[in-house]
Amino acid sequence: MSELLRIEHISKRFGDFYANRNIDLTVERGEIHTLLGENGAGKSTLMNILAGLYQPTEGKIFLEGKEVHIESPSQAVSLGIGMVHQHFMLVDAMTVFENIILGDRRSKGIFIDRAARRKEIEELAARYGFQIQLDRQITEISVGEQQRVEILKALYRGAQLLILDEPTAALTDIEVEGLFRVVNRLKEEGKSIIFISHKMREVLHISDRITILRGGEAVATINRDEMDGQQLASLMIGRELSESHYEKRNTAEKTVAVLDHVSYHKNSKHNGLADVDMKIHAGEIVGIAGVDGNGQTQLAQMLTGVIWPEEGHIQLKNSNVGVFDPLQFIQNGTAHVPEDRNLQGLVSDMSIADNIVLKRTESEEFSKGHGLFLKKKAISAYASEMAGKYDIRCRSIYQDVRSLSGGNQQKVILARELESNPDLLVAAHPTRGLDIGATRFVRDQMCAARDRGVGVVLISADFDEILEMSDRILVLFEGRIMGEYSGKNPPIKEISMAMTGK
Ligand SMILES: Nc1ncnc2c1ncn2[C@@H]1O[C@H](COP(=O)(O)OP(=O)(O)OP(=O)(O)O)[C@@H](O)[C@H]1O
Ligand SMILES: [Mg+2]
Repeated sequence: MSELLRIEHISKRFGDFYANRNIDLTVERGEIHTLLGENGAGKSTLMNILAGLYQPTEGKIFLEGKEVHIESPSQAVSLGIGMVHQHFMLVDAMTVFENIILGDRRSKGIFIDRAARRKEIEELAARYGFQIQLDRQITEISVGEQQRVEILKALYRGAQLLILDEPTAALTDIEVEGLFRVVNRLKEEGKSIIFISHKMREVLHISDRITILRGGEAVATINRDEMDGQQLASLMIGRELSESHYEKRNTAEKTVAVLDHVSYHKNSKHNGLADVDMKIHAGEIVGIAGVDGNGQTQLAQMLTGVIWPEEGHIQLKNSNVGVFDPLQFIQNGTAHVPEDRNLQGLVSDMSIADNIVLKRTESEEFSKGHGLFLKKKAISAYASEMAGKYDIRCRSIYQDVRSLSGGNQQKVILARELESNPDLLVAAHPTRGLDIGATRFVRDQMCAARDRGVGVVLISADFDEILEMSDRILVLFEGRIMGEYSGKNPPIKEISMAMTGK
């Protein structure tokens, strides 16, 4: 093997805070190198330096033994570095094809040979086994497809080093398998991959070597076979994590929400609900199992007042909902951890503190005269308490949410929604992007909410999470409920079958 990339003594400072400190790292040709680290450890920052988005404060970067200065994203591209970011950067209003050729160095002037480009992209897609619909708008395709577009875009531009920042966080198991096939194929072709993930099983499966970052520093680089998941986890968080176990409950307490023969875009299969009957009781966690894109998004939107039934009725706390409006639902005791934290969850140019009290700025606790005068001290004290409790790694609670790491942004939403003391909590992929310790904490909090009498609807693409947490499991397939199972010793095989409509 020969060395493709070498990083020497790289540091990155934001103000007086070191996000990366004195990092050394090498990546071989044809190597899959994983970066492992807690939320806020500095993984994305380091990769953004390679992608030309940040300039390092100190240190050197060598490609094939030659020192390079990566001053812009386009320079990174011309050096053969491609990155698929934690939050995708596709342009929604364009088609897949337009996104892939966007910024192509050969498309100077207005005369681009579209037909030739198309052919080239189609060949590339075929080579890696991507099913891609070039003429669809980005908004029309699934998250998994968007990711394939990002990868294809990087390959189309000739990436030799492909950086994948948490590529599997939003993928279903089947899609992850597909991604790994592609990654292995790239490796066989001699390309190098830097892979970021919080899922230990994946990391141990796919990596050749693993570098662990902790608090901005690289603490170790090991070969995959040198350690098991437990050892890696302790190295990463600097302490041992005990086994978890969640007790399952049976409850037939009062209902907090009822869907009564609810339909919405009934025939759409992937974006609708068909005749859904469902009761959520106080004090239970109802897990929604299913392959993503079988109506989960619509179910969450329906339970939070974003869309309303075309047929059927919804009850919240035993009375029929007449007005469908998210604010009304919040006032009625519904909390929501949305699937897309960027679009629905956070106001990214507001501070952590303001985001945490966002839905309560008119409450007496935080304002006088219903939002007219904010009680700054109260807000600040509360936000600090939450930042501590949810371990939001920040320098100040007045920092823009934008400047937090991906996982820490998720913790801001969780602090706001889980602490709002709702009757109904709709949690879509609550642990997505969280490291092992934070995932544990959030699961503990959901259980605590249940024990306080909250009815929790847990939507997750992570089947293990559904099995571990749910008191009751409902399977959603093409917008229909395919089966209901008790969370105690659930029939795993049967549930998996139901998830595929069998
Ligand atoms: N533009 C910025 N301004 C100020 N601080 C920043 C900026 N970008 C990142 N940071 C800080 O640097 C630290 C490392 O962030 P980074 O995004 O690299 O973490 P990460 O390892 O990718 O975490 P995650 O797993 O949550 O995505 C965090 O504390 C973050 O708040
Ligand atoms: Mg990150």
